[in-house]
Order: sequence, then C-alpha cells, then structure tokens
Amino acid sequence: MSAIAVVGLGWGDEGKGKIVDAIAASRHARLVLRFNGGPNAGHTVVPEVDLANLAPGSGAPAWNGNVFRLHQVPSGIFTPGCTSICGPGTVIDPDGFLAEVADVESLGGDTSHVLLSDRAHIVLPAHRERDALIEAARHASSPGLQQGTTKRGVGPCYEDRAGRIGLRLGDLLDGAYLDDHLPFLAAEQTRRLAAYGGGPIALDDLRDTCERWAAALRDRIVDSYLLVREALARHDTIVLEGQLGAGRDIDWGIYPYVTSSGTTAGSASANSGVPVSAITEVIGVAKAFSTSVGSGPFVTEVHGEAAARFREAGGSETEHEYGVTTGRPRRCGWFDAVATRQAAQLNGATGIALTKIDALDGFDGLRIAEAYELDGAVIDHVPSNTRAIARATPIYRDVPGWRNPSRNVRTWSALPEGARAYAAAVETACGTRVAYAGTGPTRLALAAR
Ligand code: GDP
Ligand code: IMO
Ligand code: MG
Repeated sequence: MSAIAVVGLGWGDEGKGKIVDAIAASRHARLVLRFNGGPNAGHTVVPEVDLANLAPGSGAPAWNGNVFRLHQVPSGIFTPGCTSICGPGTVIDPDGFLAEVADVESLGGDTSHVLLSDRAHIVLPAHRERDALIEAARHASSPGLQQGTTKRGVGPCYEDRAGRIGLRLGDLLDGAYLDDHLPFLAAEQTRRLAAYGGGPIALDDLRDTCERWAAALRDRIVDSYLLVREALARHDTIVLEGQLGAGRDIDWGIYPYVTSSGTTAGSASANSGVPVSAITEVIGVAKAFSTSVGSGPFVTEVHGEAAARFREAGGSETEHEYGVTTGRPRRCGWFDAVATRQAAQLNGATGIALTKIDALDGFDGLRIAEAYELDGAVIDHVPSNTRAIARATPIYRDVPGWRNPSRNVRTWSALPEGARAYAAAVETACGTRVAYAGTGPTRLALAAR
C-alpha cells in the first residue's frame, strides 16, 4: 500500500499538476484525490505517452501532447484505470466544474472517472461576489491590505464552511434538507453581501440553481470514504494532489496573504480521509527558481529584466510565468531555500521534485538564498510575523550556471553536470533529497534520480 502526497513547497504553481500526472501514470495509481482548494487552482498538465513503447497496433490517446489547464478536475485523468476525486477538503464551483469538464473533453481528455466528494462544499455565486467586494473594501481602506485573491469565491466559501452555514455537494441530493436550509442560506448570504453593498440573493434563483446542479452532478457525487477504504484494502497506489504551497498555507503561510485551506501533507491526510500512517511518501514540488502570484512579502524577488528572464524562460508560452487562473504575471526571484527548507520540514517531505531546471539553462550564474538577514541578525527560518518577512533580506550562495541544454532530458546521468550540481546545492540547502528534476512541461520531461 502506498499513498503519496504531492504538495507545493513554495507559493503555488510549482508544477504540482505535472508531477501528479507523471507519478500517477508511472506508478499506476488507482486513485488521485485532490485534498484542498478549488477553482483558485490552475494545474498545467501536458500528458504524453512514449510512442516508442506503444503496443503494436495501438494508437496514441486523443489527449496525447495537448496542454490541459486544470482548475478543479484532478490531474489523475490521464492515468488508465484511475479514479479521480475532488475530496472532502475541496470547495467546488459547480458551473466552473461543468465548463471545465467540457473543455477537457474537447481536448480529448476523459472525465468519466471524475467523482466529487459529497462532503465538499459548494462555492456559490454569492461567494465569488463577496470575494471581490471584500478585496475592494480592503483596497479602499489601504491598498496594502488587498490580498490579490483569485476572486473565485474560495475564501468566503471556506469561511462559511468553518462558520457551519455552508452547502455541501451531498446536500444537493436531499430535497427535504434544501427546502429547510435554502431560505436561511439565501437570507444569510444577502446579509453578508449587504455589509459590502452587494446582493441580494433571491431564494427562487438559488433553489433553481441547486436543482440544475443536482441534475448535472448527481452521478458524480459520492461518499469518497468508501472509495478510499476500498483502495487502502486493495493496497492500491493513491496520489493526494495538493493545491497551492506552504507559503500560502492558512497556518504556515504569509498570513494574511494566504489561501483559506491547509496545503501541507498533514492536511492531505485530514482532508482526504487517507490516514496519516498510510502516507508513505511526500513529494514536495519546488520550482528551480521562486515565483509567487498575489500580494505579500517575497524575500528573493527580482524586478525588471531579471524577472522577465525567469518569467519568459522556456520554449513555449504555456510554460511562461503567468497565472493559469487569472493570467496575472507571476512575480519571480532566486530560489529561496530558507522558505523551501521550512516547507520541506513542515511537510515531512521524503523527496523534492525540482521542476523547471531547464528554464535555468544558459544562465551564467545562479543564486540560492540560504539564510535571511533580519534587523541585523542572521536567521535560518521564515519569521511568523509577516511584516518581519518583508524586512528580511536574502543571504545568497552563488553557484555556477551551465551551458548544455537540459531540456527534455529523461535520465539523471544525462543532465548537464552544472544542473546536477545545482540540484545538489538545493538538496544541501533544503536538507531533503532531490528525487526528480523537471526538464520541460510534458509528462516525460522528468529525470528521476
Ligand atoms: P501547479 O499549479 O503547481 O500545477 O503549477 P502551474 O501549472 O500553475 O505552473 C507550472 C508551470 O510550469 C506550468 O506552465 C507548467 O507547464 C510548467 N512546468 C512544470 N514543470 C516544468 C518543467 O520541468 N519545465 C518547464 N519548462 N516547465 C514546467
Ligand atoms: P495552484 O494550485 C498560485 C494565491 C492568490 C492570493 C492567495 C489567496 O495553481 O498552485 P485565494 O483565491 O485562494 O483566496 O487567493 O493565494 N493563489 C494562488 N497562487 N497558485 C494557485 O493555485 C493559487 N491559488 C490561490 O494569488 O495571493
Ligand atoms: Mg498553478
């Protein structure tokens, strides 16, 4: 039995989608379960099969080589025989999910094995509206308070979940409960929106919408506990797919510039129903340089041309550093080993997948932040006080770059010597073995060590 948690060690967009797809396919996973987040996510997957190894007479799948930008659909859909589940800790925007299913199918993806936990909470249109209104109110009070959320309603949905007024997917299938609950829900959402000048929410609209969602999603809504229990009993390989990274974890991130869910391996267990003791491997995904989208401190950030060089690196637009969900340019900087080391430790990472190593091909020299200087002292961790993080400056180790291309290299020994030395420097600085190097956006562009 092995459950493998794939989690972000940065501020999101580390390449979790690619790594989940690659690991699920190569280890023949039977279950891929997303444990947190919702429509705020954007996981890029470019699935591909090795044409040289196709059985005689069989063709490549319809999705082969296509670029999928997944928001709510799990990255397990390109693994034969695998069921993909949006787990109990996720929040689901039903209309966004249905539109995404249509998009994925149009690109040759098969969503017939995508299921939704009946415990997952529903992101209502009122949540999206509230997300935007709260951001505007923060900005009006002081521009620095704006968090730069994705405005997908994720924060308000988790807020209502914790406040125990939320609507769960399973509720859609319980007409009597809806009759009871929806009048209160419509009134309560109206009250919450009115505080920011939004709303009102009409009960009839909400009831019609719920009926439409129930009809469209009925066949996908399941008690994921039963599937997890079966998979564990069969000793199937399970992959737990994380959203965002430790830098924006609700407890461990740069609060308040965080998301509203737990992003670490502990949450992977708590929010999936896979017991802690069943998680035998934790793959921490880290990008070979650091990126962040949204507000908050970023100690190793660079600007201008230096940032553009990171942002535009790589052969195709799909891998350039622009948010998958919002299209915003991502902030870029040198590899922050202080934050990554802390994230690896908090997650109990058993290995690091170091993605986008190919994006660093051709740099003369590279920098790794090994410590911070804060108010005249050297520190080796990320302070809990976010204002202190903003005052911290990086203390870099300079390492040489490399000239030979690493692009699409599939074996560790074939990586340029400089790239291997860079991975070794990351490993030493983070205290965690680098188990994979990503060498391109596609599934097979991955060198296992
Ligand atoms: P996620 O949210 O963690 O799944 O990551 P995103 O998909 O938002 O962002 C990662 C970006 O890097 C995407 O554009 C991927 O296609 C790209 N990517 C992932 N791994 C690699 C890699 O090893 N090399 C290159 N060049 N691009 C990669
Ligand atoms: P993946 O899964 C990068 C950021 C937003 C904002 C903060 C809170 O692709 O890594 P939210 O909408 O969650 O309330 O926004 O978190 N953020 C992401 N940044 N990748 C994501 O997802 C993100 N999801 C949210 O920019 O700073
Ligand atoms: Mg992303």
